[in-house]
This record gives sequence, structure tokens and C-alpha cells, in this order.
Amino acid sequence: MLYTVGPVFVGPDAYDAMSKPMITHRSKEYKELHGNIVEKVKKALNTDMEVFLVAGSASVFLEGAIRNGAASKTLGITNGSFGNRSIEIAELNGKAVDKVQVPWGEAMKPEHIAGKVAKDTEMVHWVSNESSTGVFSDSVALANEVRSQNPDALVMVDAVTAAFAMDLRLKEMDADAVIFGSQKALALPPGIAVMLCSERLLEKAKSVPNRGFYTDLLKIKKQNDVNYALTTPPVSLMYGMDYQLDKMLSEGMQARYERHREMADMVRKWADEKMEGVFPEEGYRSNSIGVVNRGSLDFDAFHSKLKAKGYEISNGYGDVKEKTFRIGHMGDVTPKGIRELLEAMDSILEE
Ligand SMILES: Cc1ncc(COP(=O)(O)O)c(C=O)c1O
Repeated sequence: MLYTVGPVFVGPDAYDAMSKPMITHRSKEYKELHGNIVEKVKKALNTDMEVFLVAGSASVFLEGAIRNGAASKTLGITNGSFGNRSIEIAELNGKAVDKVQVPWGEAMKPEHIAGKVAKDTEMVHWVSNESSTGVFSDSVALANEVRSQNPDALVMVDAVTAAFAMDLRLKEMDADAVIFGSQKALALPPGIAVMLCSERLLEKAKSVPNRGFYTDLLKIKKQNDVNYALTTPPVSLMYGMDYQLDKMLSEGMQARYERHREMADMVRKWADEKMEGVFPEEGYRSNSIGVVNRGSLDFDAFHSKLKAKGYEISNGYGDVKEKTFRIGHMGDVTPKGIRELLEAMDSILEE
């Protein structure tokens, strides 16, 4: 059983949903599937933004948002590996990136970017839920701060391990690109990238050269308007997504967010009692990923014993790889499952 940071556990019901016969993506059936997914994503995430889907991992849309939203200059705020990744993506796409480095384990806050959004900053990007540190920053507060300094700057939020696990308050955030993939809290195999996109970003894209083909949001939008995909879509995964969204909507999003909070609380309590607590600062802790200070624990030995009992968790990542390990508690896993995992971990510690 996977309690990893992603890909995560996929239930047998989701696999069943993905085993429907193939259809072509220029059919009436495809249009219906595509349109249903778009509407259900909007409903689940409480947003009116455009919903774009492509075959790929989330990074394709991190790259796409930057390529469409900035001709030359961005500001990247980072407090971990994945914030650094977006900065790298912008730089490799030829943008000049101003950087704000926030210490690992701390949340990015409006005061960190005071006076940093220049007149010519076209886009500001950061990660909502930093998967290397387990910090969930307040992206609504950050987006408001960006706009107070430069109302024309676009906002791109990497929500890869936040979407469908924690309430992103998208209407208040009013971001221009919010990006995630299928292999995290949607609890599906990897292979669908999703971008929520604003009218402002589409307008800006018209004046930005070199948007590519696969990542050209104007081309994607034109097809999306008639429930078509620009290139061959991951139809089987989309069947799974349609199914998972139905399941989520019948659970209720508030109940789902509450379930994630309950699992996070269990892991934090365990980490306080059995390890050296969790890594991220109080008040900004992720409900989808527990990043545990592992002290002198030999993680590899511990993890091989845990795997022998049928459980897999994730090692630390980036600069805190040797100091932490991570427990993913998102998607379709349950408090009961987390209790069993923690009991299995206890039994190994007691040996
Ligand atoms: C916060 C965050 N951003 C970006 C990525 C990269 O996503 P993908 O591998 O789907 O491109 C990950 C992957 O774990 C992530 O956790």
C-alpha cells in the first residue's frame, strides 16, 4: 500500500473505471467525457477558470504557463525543491528570473516579496504546497501582495500536491495559472496534466512569441471551447478522472478536506511522539504530506522493514533528504489506513 508523495495509491474502482473500451478523440462520446471533466473540476475546485487537460506530467503545464505568460521576465519565490524547479523551467525557457529565497521549512509570506514585484515583472510563480518540505503557504495572501505591487503581473501557482487535498480558495486567489497532475490527490496513475487558466493569461499569450505547439494555450483553448483536445488525449486516464471526480463530489469537498486534515493531524502527533516532530513551521503545515524529522533513524533499513510489511512511504527530498522522510496522505487513503501504517511503523521501531 502506497503512502507516498506521488504517484499515490490508486483504488481498484478507479482501475475498473479506466478499463472501458477505447474511443477516438474526435467522437461525440469523447466530447461528452471532456466536457464532463471540465465541469466537474470547476465544481470540485469552486472556480470559473478555464480547465485545460493534456497528456503529460504537471511539468508540461508549468512550462506552458511560463512560455505563454512571460516574454522575458518573471519573479520566482521558492522555499524548496519544487519552487526551485519552476525557476529552472523559466530560466531554461530564456526568461530572466528575479528570485526570492525563503528558508526551507518556512512559509512564503507577503513580507518576503515586499517591493520585489517590479514594473516589468510579467509573471510571479511559486508552489502552493512544497512537496520537499511539507509547507503549505497562503497563496491568497501572496497573490494579493503581487497585485498590490503590480496589477499587471500574472500569478502562476504550482498546486501539484495541494489540489483536491486542501482548499485553495481559488476565487479569492484569482490566479492566472493553477497547475496539477493526475498522480497526486486525484489518486490516479500519472499522465494527465491540468491547468486552470485565466482570461488575463490568454490575453497576454497573444503578445508572447515562442509559445511552442504542445504548450500553446491559444491553440489548446480553441479546441477546449468545443470539448476537444489539441493532441491525442489520455482517454483511459480521463475515464478514471471522470470517475474520481464523481466520487469526490459525492464525498463533498469540505468532508474531503477535513479527511485530509484528520490524516495530517494523526501523522503530526505520531511524529511528535515517536520522531523529532515535523519539519514545516507551525500554522503552515500541509494536509497532504507529512515531512517528519527523522533524527538518527536509519531510513533505508526502516523502510525495507516497512516494505516487507506491505507499506511504502517516501524518502526525504532535496536539501532535507537526509534529515527527513515523507508520508503521503492524500487522495483515497483514509484515517483508518493511516492508523494501520503508524502501527506498522511503531512495531518496527519497537523491534
Ligand atoms: C510541488 C510539485 N511540483 C511539481 C512536481 C512535478 O510534477 P510532475 O512530475 O507531475 O511533472 C511535483 C512532483 O512531485 C511536485 O510535488
